[in-house]
Amino acid sequence: MRKALVAGNWKMHGRVDQNLKLIEALIPALSNLKEAVDIVVCPPLVYLSQVNELIANTSIALGAQDVSRFDRDGAHTGDCSADMLADVGASYVLVGHSERRSEQNDTDERVSQKLACLLKANLKPILCVGETLEQREAGQVEDVIATQIELAISGLSVDDLKELLIAYEPVWAIGTGKTASPEQAQDVHAYIRELLGARFGSGFAKQITILYGGSVKAANAAELFGQPDIDGGLIGGAALITEEFTAICSAAANSPKNG
Ligand code: 13P
Repeated sequence: MRKALVAGNWKMHGRVDQNLKLIEALIPALSNLKEAVDIVVCPPLVYLSQVNELIANTSIALGAQDVSRFDRDGAHTGDCSADMLADVGASYVLVGHSERRSEQNDTDERVSQKLACLLKANLKPILCVGETLEQREAGQVEDVIATQIELAISGLSVDDLKELLIAYEPVWAIGTGKTASPEQAQDVHAYIRELLGARFGSGFAKQITILYGGSVKAANAAELFGQPDIDGGLIGGAALITEEFTAICSAAANSPKNG
């Protein structure tokens, strides 16, 4: 059975004092959920060490929002390698988030290089995929998702991908308040599982964690997480609000699938 997972992507938000307040509030609020849901927080790069210290001895795990596509130390100004992320305590790393794809030219090829670096460093990649509104309206959802996944994992074997997680984040639902309906999200999640099953076998497809992201909040989390192929969420704005993030984690923990 797949364990639910909720990851908070803080994006470019936070300050030393705000991070302290948020984590100090989350620790007690989340402490009784750890049996049922894995919880990850992904602060900005500069705060990874601070947050890692704050969550020491709790069940909250640390994630990063991106990684360099270069795996060897060297002249890559501004970059941070997978080994460095692991060195400061990260265990999960987002890769291919749509904001990196659109703002930082993260092409499918670069996403694939980054994914390989993360696997080499024994980090758990959360590969983000999703279509734009134009692509959805043109009936291209499955093609877009298949291409993003195929290109990201090309050349990798089922053994390489044991630690992979996928996040389906329709671009039109990110930060817009428009959530995919539970049925729309479930359809894409089922498609992703089918795609991976055809390529790597149904055993692999059944065990892989597939998260939904895009305007998830306390009010819609339970319905989304109740879908058979939605294993949890990748949360943006609501991850910065203690009550919201706690309620979302609790919805994942209390999903009937976990019972
Ligand atoms: P929002 O929850 O703010 O829509 O962001 C989703 C997201 O991009 C998480 O990675």
